[in-house]
Amino acid sequence: MKDFAGKIAVITGGGTGMGRELARQLVAEGCNVAMCDVSAEAMAETKRLCEVERLPQGLRVTTHVADVSIEDQLKRFRDEVSEQQSTDKIHLLFNNAGIGGGGSLFSNSREQWERTFNICWGGVYFGVRTFLPMLLKADQGHIVNTSSVNGFWASIGPGVSHTAYSAAKFAVKGFTEALITDLRLNAPHIKCSVVMPGHIGTSIVSNSRKVQTGNDRLTADDLAQARQRMKAAGIDTTAMSDDDIQNIAIERARAFREDAPMTAVAAAKIILDGVKAERWRILVGDDAHGLDARVRQTPERAYERDFFESVAAEIGWRIS
Ligand SMILES: NC(=O)c1ccc[n+]([C@@H]2O[C@H](COP(=O)([O-])OP(=O)(O)OC[C@H]3O[C@@H](n4cnc5c(N)ncnc54)[C@H](O)[C@@H]3O)[C@@H](O)[C@H]2O)c1
Repeated sequence: MKDFAGKIAVITGGGTGMGRELARQLVAEGCNVAMCDVSAEAMAETKRLCEVERLPQGLRVTTHVADVSIEDQLKRFRDEVSEQQSTDKIHLLFNNAGIGGGGSLFSNSREQWERTFNICWGGVYFGVRTFLPMLLKADQGHIVNTSSVNGFWASIGPGVSHTAYSAAKFAVKGFTEALITDLRLNAPHIKCSVVMPGHIGTSIVSNSRKVQTGNDRLTADDLAQARQRMKAAGIDTTAMSDDDIQNIAIERARAFREDAPMTAVAAAKIILDGVKAERWRILVGDDAHGLDARVRQTPERAYERDFFESVAAEIGWRIS
């Protein structure tokens, strides 16, 4: 798909981050956008930003509250899109919504684990199932599923358990790669891509906490885990109060957003350029390219401390 003008795009998780920037750039290219998110306020801000430049006559930007891990809510989203965009077809589907958390089978609850997995994997699977009939009706279509570097490397460092997110992102990658053939055989006018971003400066750290717990404060479990993580990194937390730990978490979320090697604006451009070039595999950021090469070079070392340390030094990661 070389041109987005006049097309209709569905974006999940359009409230902030890469979803918001995808919406803004698509609208700037004359594409109609229907987005969903769990946050109505965040989507209202995305819509306002899309409309800062006067929209071309008739272009529609619609917002819909829906949780992508609940199939019935996605079906309601689809019905609303059909009604509010006056269409029986869509051309682009960005399964972008995602959260982190629930990484350990030991220190997280099963509920937390499944919340992350069901959003990051279930959201993509239900998204494709729900919108496929509308993509089939278009003359050309493209499905863009957001995985992560955690779709080929199941870690964010040696001191952090990361099982739910990694399992989901590997699933998104495997599903999308297999979908290439399924679409070629059964619906050749629809293409698909898997997006694997490295570290992108967004509010995913605080948003994930909000989706997991209802607010962005650390729970008692989170506090215990943060202490455990700092201990593993050689930091003595015995003299630190819970408020001190909260403040460190707030600072980590800020640093994740503001000190990242790439912005969400730049990431969205790479994703859209990848779609136009019909690339099924879209790595986002020098860190993602570097990590991809390193994991292929020495897969057996990928979960050793020295691998993480040398990769982090080479690609300039300051997260752990
Ligand atoms: N930021 C990074 O470094 C990074 C790296 C690799 C992959 N990713 C992936 O990129 C995607 C976008 O993340 P982002 O960094 O822009 O984060 P973000 O938190 O800024 O945006 C994600 C959006 O999804 C929404 N959301 C969360 N749960 C939802 C649910 N159940 N239903 C509907 N909406 C929901 C959030 O409210 C938020 O608006 C995610 O899939 C994430 O896993 C991000």
